[in-house]
Amino acid sequence: MRIEALLLPLQKPVLDSYDAVIVIDTLRATTVIAKAIEVGAMGVYPVRSIEEAQKFKTFVPSSVLAGERRSFKIDGFDLGNSPFEFTRETVSGRNVILTTTNGTKTIKNFEKYGRLIAMSLSNLKAVANYSKAFENVLIVCAGSHGEVSLEDTYTAGKYISLFSMPALNDGAVVALKMADEDPMRILKSAHHGRYLSENEMNGDLEASLIEKNVVPVLKEDSMNLKFFGGAK
Ligand code: MLT
Repeated sequence: MRIEALLLPLQKPVLDSYDAVIVIDTLRATTVIAKAIEVGAMGVYPVRSIEEAQKFKTFVPSSVLAGERRSFKIDGFDLGNSPFEFTRETVSGRNVILTTTNGTKTIKNFEKYGRLIAMSLSNLKAVANYSKAFENVLIVCAGSHGEVSLEDTYTAGKYISLFSMPALNDGAVVALKMADEDPMRILKSAHHGRYLSENEMNGDLEASLIEKNVVPVLKEDSMNLKFFGGAK
């Protein structure tokens, strides 16, 4: 098994295609995607922009508009991007359209490299179990506003630590060196973790550690639109 980790979504990967492309945005896009799937959302459609999300809503009026800019709910949207907002009552049986600052753009930019999976601290064990037979795995950390994020790098390291002796690129070696750190200490010292705490969203740090046995895999619907459903 070879694991290549990009600590920012800025480089071109070494290969053109991977058995799995794992996108990490632990605070909070991929935590939210895992939560939405866990509570029964029919699908989570990641889009780059607010305009795209609003256009999707006109085609599918029953869908839930969710997302954030500067971590706050977008005006006119149904939900923001806190895991607490995604419950059976708000999203079960419904399609969710999600746009976030870094996470959904990273997903859209890397979907062409292979089977794309959304991973966060909450579901990394489920993703590791799902991907244990894969030969080539690409991990892409969303980071935050063009900077490496502690929490995404740490999530990558925890995932890598679950495999014995994989071949690693330098980014994966760096991530693995963080694997023994304490998760809450990482989240609280991370730039984005501090920003969320300063804006009364510190509950989302604890929420991002609640384990979820879900593997959100990006699929294509009948209109060739990409959405996350459960592992198949
Ligand atoms: C992101 O996409 O950068 C995050 O999800 C932002 C956030 O939710 O605070």
